[in-house]
Amino acid sequence: MMRSHRCGELRAEHIGQDVELAGWAWRQRDHGGLVFVDLRDSSGLAQVVISPEVAGDIHNHAHAIRNEYVLRVKGRVRRRPEGTANPNLPTGEVEIEVHRLEILNECKTLPFLIDEGPEPSENLRFRHRYLDLRRPSVQNHLVARNRIVSHIRSFLDHEGFIDVETPVLNRSTPEGARDYLVPSRVNPGSFYALPQSPQLFKQILMVAGFDRYYQIVKCFRDEDLRADRQPEFTQVDLEMSFVSEEDVMGLTEAMIRHVFRQLLEKEIGEIPRLPFRDALERFGSDKPDLRFGLELRDMADLVRNSSFKVFLDTLGRGGRVKAICVPGISGYSRKDMDVLTEEAQGYGAKGLAWIRVKDTGFESPIAKFFPEETLKAMAARMEATAGDTMLFVADQPAVVAETLSRLRGSLARRLGLIPEGEYRFAWVTEFPLLEWDEELGRHQAMHHPFTAPVDEDLERLESGRREDLDAVRARAYDLVLNGFEVGGGSIRVHRADVQERMLGVLRIGPEEARDKFGFLLEALQYGAPPHGGLALGLDRLVMLMVGASSIRDVIAFPKTQKAVCPLTDAPSRVDPKQLRELHIRLDIPGD
Ligand code: AMO
Ligand code: AMP
Repeated sequence: MMRSHRCGELRAEHIGQDVELAGWAWRQRDHGGLVFVDLRDSSGLAQVVISPEVAGDIHNHAHAIRNEYVLRVKGRVRRRPEGTANPNLPTGEVEIEVHRLEILNECKTLPFLIDEGPEPSENLRFRHRYLDLRRPSVQNHLVARNRIVSHIRSFLDHEGFIDVETPVLNRSTPEGARDYLVPSRVNPGSFYALPQSPQLFKQILMVAGFDRYYQIVKCFRDEDLRADRQPEFTQVDLEMSFVSEEDVMGLTEAMIRHVFRQLLEKEIGEIPRLPFRDALERFGSDKPDLRFGLELRDMADLVRNSSFKVFLDTLGRGGRVKAICVPGISGYSRKDMDVLTEEAQGYGAKGLAWIRVKDTGFESPIAKFFPEETLKAMAARMEATAGDTMLFVADQPAVVAETLSRLRGSLARRLGLIPEGEYRFAWVTEFPLLEWDEELGRHQAMHHPFTAPVDEDLERLESGRREDLDAVRARAYDLVLNGFEVGGGSIRVHRADVQERMLGVLRIGPEEARDKFGFLLEALQYGAPPHGGLALGLDRLVMLMVGASSIRDVIAFPKTQKAVCPLTDAPSRVDPKQLRELHIRLDIPGD
């Protein structure tokens, strides 16, 4: 063994003992005579002292120690001198008087300071991720992630779930994103798709009689990246037989409760249900942040009683007029309001109208278009009182929802309306089964094509009329936490005839259906049990539990916004010989 103790373990009870430690030089102070080094390993820091009296010759080497040199020391633990204890450090009462010092390795000048100071650029951090990860704050995220995974596994094991691995080289499974493709050398011209999720395999496992399956599994999606999206990410994927929505949601809630209790000592109460339609009406989003108010209110009926053309014309064209009521911005100048308007325009709105509520009445460039009693009725509906500002957007429904939802979030953050350390979950339920795709001129599955419709809505599915199809509800549910979708699932279609009908509605003809999903349709004919499940986005859950602001902070080797790994420089060009073996010729403009 190279060491007798770990740096972070030493306490007053070790005083007088001889110990051996190994680690990195986190900071060093060279007083000419005494050299102090804060030695760091994964357990924490210990202060070692190298003095000419005790260390003799090796003291000369101590002057050579630089940041991140790898050291091994042998010495005696002693109490720090009166007045020099550090109460902020678990090992702050003691220090090690060094007898022997070994420099195990040197370290080049660091590309960025890893202990403190301004955060280096993400590109630099990820290029030298091994240095970035040396920072305790970053390393702790991965430690927490490991604990979360281990609590999830022990919970699911206890509940009788079986972890089954599913293939990575697959046929495409439609989850709505673009596939990553892998060419097959032995089958020229054929490609595997990396799984967007193990959806079809887990359903097949139910047909195979597994009853309760889970897997903590990498999924791959080629889509536009954001703070909460990576091209490869991890799902806690599960599936159960002979269950209803309530069973899957209940099991998931129990798992979430267990993990929050174990990791954060937090009690998550009953998770409220929020029908999709209400979520959209009240928050403009199907993943609302429930930690604060600023709810959207419909103003159409009141606005009709005005002469403001922008609003009236929008309503005339089938649009909507909705508002939020914001405290604390009544002091904003005209210019501030212009900036806010530009922000709204950035979200897609044509403009932002505002009305300030004052003790003395209303203040707004558009107040003149509204009778006094209408202004009062608007304030009453918004429960606005003196000092509040009502913000209005008039547009097509989707634009109104998107703009006000994003303004709601950004204003809440700016105004400090979001309580620290709070976790507000919700189940969003009663999703529509289908959504109309303007571009394709047909319906798409809102979740995925294997989600079961609500039984009472089956007739509507039969009719095939657009309004009927729009109204079919899905047996689907999403788990939302603090404004993020952290999970989603559904009860599946378990009958081949219903599944074929579903594919028909999606205009996937019998031939294409057989070609793409024949194996599933066939399996469903051999006694498929009713089944359903869900997948949690592990990265997002960990991000929220550790208080990080991007899932990149809780992934050891993340990719950038452009899907690049700065550490390895993936993706990269490959040897022409490899391409020839795959029968692939590149056709890149300008190459
Ligand atoms: P869904 O597509 O909703 O469902 O994915 C489940 C959860 O995975 C997370 N997630 C992501 N996290 C990071 N980066 C991404 N690119 C990304 N995409 C999704 C989200 C999401 O809620 N097979 C179904 C599940 C089921 O029906 O059982 C599925 O994959 O948190
Ligand atoms: P205008 O009549 O274009 O001068 O607009 C008057 C006010 O209404 C301005 O503050 C605009 O920002 C606002 N406005 C314009 N279009 C919209 C809209 N679609 N929704 C909300 N407010 C709008």
